[in-house]
Amino acid sequence: MEQLTSKDLISMEDKHGAHNYHPLEVVLKRGEGVHVWDVEGKQYYDFLSAYSAVNQGHCHPKIVGAMIDQAKRLTLTSRAFYNDSLGPYEKFVTEYFGFDKVLPMNTGAEAVETAIKLCRKWAYEKKGIPQDSAKIIVCENNFHGRTTTIVSFSNDPVAQKNFGPFTPGFIRIPYNNLEALEEALKQDNIAGFLVEPIQGEAGVYVPNDGYLAKAKELCAANGTLFIADEVQTGVARTGRLLAVDHENVKPDILILGKALSGGAYPVSAVFANNEIMEVIHPGEHGSTFGGNPVAAKVAVAALEVVTEEKLAENAERLGHIFRAEMNRIIEKTDLVLKVRGKGLLNAIIVNDTEDSSTAMDLCIALKENGLLAKPTHGNIIRFAPPLVMTEEQLLECVAIIEKTIKEFKK
Ligand SMILES: Cc1ncc(COP(=O)(O)O)c(C=O)c1O
Repeated sequence: MEQLTSKDLISMEDKHGAHNYHPLEVVLKRGEGVHVWDVEGKQYYDFLSAYSAVNQGHCHPKIVGAMIDQAKRLTLTSRAFYNDSLGPYEKFVTEYFGFDKVLPMNTGAEAVETAIKLCRKWAYEKKGIPQDSAKIIVCENNFHGRTTTIVSFSNDPVAQKNFGPFTPGFIRIPYNNLEALEEALKQDNIAGFLVEPIQGEAGVYVPNDGYLAKAKELCAANGTLFIADEVQTGVARTGRLLAVDHENVKPDILILGKALSGGAYPVSAVFANNEIMEVIHPGEHGSTFGGNPVAAKVAVAALEVVTEEKLAENAERLGHIFRAEMNRIIEKTDLVLKVRGKGLLNAIIVNDTEDSSTAMDLCIALKENGLLAKPTHGNIIRFAPPLVMTEEQLLECVAIIEKTIKEFKK
């Protein structure tokens, strides 16, 4: 078949697909490790990793191998029947993350929905909150996905506008503010506190040291579930297996997605111990694809790669180098104000207004120079390469960023 050009493929999407994204104008055809190639054959460093899903690198042979082997044997049974992959996966993954039980789903948003349902049900059946009055505390500038309930507690006007009516039962407080949490916990019928250990989509906001540990302590004292959404921060991205590990916090409910499969397949999961998870009974929650045999095999392989290739350690080490290099560059330019992040989840703040196109223009210039990244919000650019990156490759990326910043004209 004749290869369509980037231009042809972009206009095809534009004509036939809903316009729910605004992609950078690059059409990718192949990926391997930290690199991707466009349809014209140009090579790029991937500095987004599909929003931190491809932590293990593109098309990791072990993960793809596990997927192909299983896909040839059995792809889907639904949970109407048992299959020979789910049990071994559930045993492996609960031991890996240290919880009694897992509830398997597919996407991040589904896992967040699952956690909300689990928290509410626990609140009525174990905490004794009166029917239909449970409240979950969330944070300003949160991002937990795109379902109707999840956008109900977003404060991003773009995510909400004209999608109402919304689901009640959420209280929003400022992020990284323990006094606000303490106050909110005094209200009646509080069931849980849902939090991102680092706010990724909002622009890689890292809370103060001790915030998560103290928040967990406040929740525990109040009999409120601490729910960590680690869909973006989990699976070695921030330099630990989980971002809460930086403060030795054990969530009551843990939500994972994205890199749980290394980006090879949609796999998400909700973890809890028995006293919480046992409130769910047959028929009360589910998903046709959740826990399918391919997902199960892919996730085991993806997590084995994380351990075998010491990805958390690599992210931690390279993250320090990256931020030091960015700070060196920032001293010589007035285009970038700041770098922040943990491990290999970082962002730079571009010196312009939030509604300016400067960050996007800089990403376009980076693309021309062979590195793919995207603004999160306004003037913030997230840098999140695959964790299989070597130091040499990282320094090559730093050189691309430095050159692009030096040559950039507003
Ligand atoms: C913290 C967090 N939670 C949930 C989600 C939603 O995941 P998905 O896009 O797989 O539904 C995301 C996606 O970016 C996320 O960053």
